[in-house]
Amino acid sequence: MSRLTHMAERLITQGLCLDAAARLIEGVAGPVLEIGLGKGRTYDHLRELLPDREIFTFDRDVHAPPALVPDGAHLILGDFRDTLPRVAATIGAAALAHADIGSDDRAADTELAAAVAASLAECLAPGAIVATDRAMDGEGWAALDLPLGARWPYFMYRVE
Ligand SMILES: C[S@@+](CC[C@H](N)C(=O)[O-])C[C@H]1O[C@@H](n2cnc3c(N)ncnc32)[C@H](O)[C@@H]1O
Repeated sequence: MSRLTHMAERLITQGLCLDAAARLIEGVAGPVLEIGLGKGRTYDHLRELLPDREIFTFDRDVHAPPALVPDGAHLILGDFRDTLPRVAATIGAAALAHADIGSDDRAADTELAAAVAASLAECLAPGAIVATDRAMDGEGWAALDLPLGARWPYFMYRVE
């Protein structure tokens, strides 16, 4: 598969998963956590899908174009392993966490995904959805089928 096709399938899958997640949290109150602001593509999709939700974004630094950078109250900079536990104590239970955290280093990603899942355990509402590009093993999370048309490895969970 060419890099172009790979990227196209990734973006389509992310869009489908976020669309599905937005429907699944209709009855769940709480903000959204965008873990991995990156270039702001999925953040932009989330804010269009969920205009009435607060979205807190996380990254180690800012490399999104200015129009896709949230205000200071919704942009939490630093390593996820430091910022997520800190935020868990202050923003209350979230309805959706989207963790787009993958790199080319699978071993490092596995460790990071475990740390992110452990932090999320402290800050998700019952019924919350986790959508992520790396498998996570959250306690009490049920794995969900991906939406029809998803063609790239992604993972969705519901907090029971
Ligand atoms: C795949 S990109 C996110 C892409 C983004 N969702 C988008 O649609 O443009 C992953 C992001 O996670 C950030 N990141 C990776 N590991 C991190 C860590 N341990 N702490 C903070 N940020 C991290 C990177 O800086 C990068 O911006």
